[in-house]
Amino acid sequence: MILVTGATGNNGVEIVKRLAARNIPVRAMVRNRDYPKDTAIPHVEVVEGDFDRPETLLGVLAGIEQAFLLTNSSERAEAQQIAFIDVAKQSGVKQIVKLSQFAADANSPVRFLRYHAAVEAALRSSGITYTILRPNLFMQGLLNFRSTIATQNAFYAAAGEAKVSVVDVRDIADVAVAALTESGHEGKIYDLTGPQALTHAEMAESLSVAIGRRITFVNIPPETMRETLLGIGFPVWQTEGLLEDYAHYRRGEAMTIASGVQDAIGKKSRSFEDFSRDYATMFQ
Ligand SMILES: NC(=O)c1ccc[n+]([C@@H]2O[C@H](COP(=O)([O-])OP(=O)(O)OC[C@H]3O[C@@H](n4cnc5c(N)ncnc54)[C@H](OP(=O)(O)O)[C@@H]3O)[C@@H](O)[C@H]2O)c1
Repeated sequence: MILVTGATGNNGVEIVKRLAARNIPVRAMVRNRDYPKDTAIPHVEVVEGDFDRPETLLGVLAGIEQAFLLTNSSERAEAQQIAFIDVAKQSGVKQIVKLSQFAADANSPVRFLRYHAAVEAALRSSGITYTILRPNLFMQGLLNFRSTIATQNAFYAAAGEAKVSVVDVRDIADVAVAALTESGHEGKIYDLTGPQALTHAEMAESLSVAIGRRITFVNIPPETMRETLLGIGFPVWQTEGLLEDYAHYRRGEAMTIASGVQDAIGKKSRSFEDFSRDYATMFQ
């Protein structure tokens, strides 16, 4: 039995869908039992578990051989994920596939990259077989800008002219499923990127072609981005983390094109044009 955590999120939904489509027994960990109201999938066992209550994880992990580990990024993420690894070890889990981030590094000025590096280190020293996925910025992140794209034909970020080798979440899910179901991925670290490094202005052009109207990327100063994120209710830790992420993009540290998708599943990664075409209706 395979456990998918973060099952209601961007990656988790895609991974559960793929496993279920192949009739592979899958358990989806959720905080809210109402799942999967709008994503009802037959043959998926839905269990309630909360990373903030490690006592709930023993039941969630009972009988699990492989687990996909993902939390959202918060100041609790490192502790949540390390506690999960500890309980997985007690429960006899054989393999963990961890979703990390491109350029994870204990000495990074970016807090997200530091916490992912700390969890990677804990996983490597746990004795559990591991596969680490390090995706770059998600193409699907653009969906977060749907409202300004719909109302102003524009989206705003402190990205400058940064080129980023953005990756499609569907490729991450394909790699995760391969790692969870096939041998040969043990002990591997996969850097997952798309086939091109693009500026946000180039992404706007591609999106414009796909949806048939002009969409503009507007560069904003980091201070404006901070005020905007805090204004819409982002917690301070996440806001500062995102600003660090965007500074990292502007320094050109996320523009490398990596071969992780090809290495893991023998296929080319999806392009931004593929993403724009396939998600065009979601921006209307
Ligand atoms: N965004 C990017 O461009 C990017 C790039 C590289 C790496 N990453 C990494 O990707 C990860 C986020 O992935 P994602 O976008 O697929 O996730 P997401 O859509 O943000 O979803 C987060 C998931 O975690 C669950 N969750 C949160 N707190 C929980 C708790 N206390 N107990 C149990 N479940 C909990 C959420 O469940 P609920 O539905 O109950 O909230 C949800 O299913 C982060 O680690 C981030 O660093 C992101």
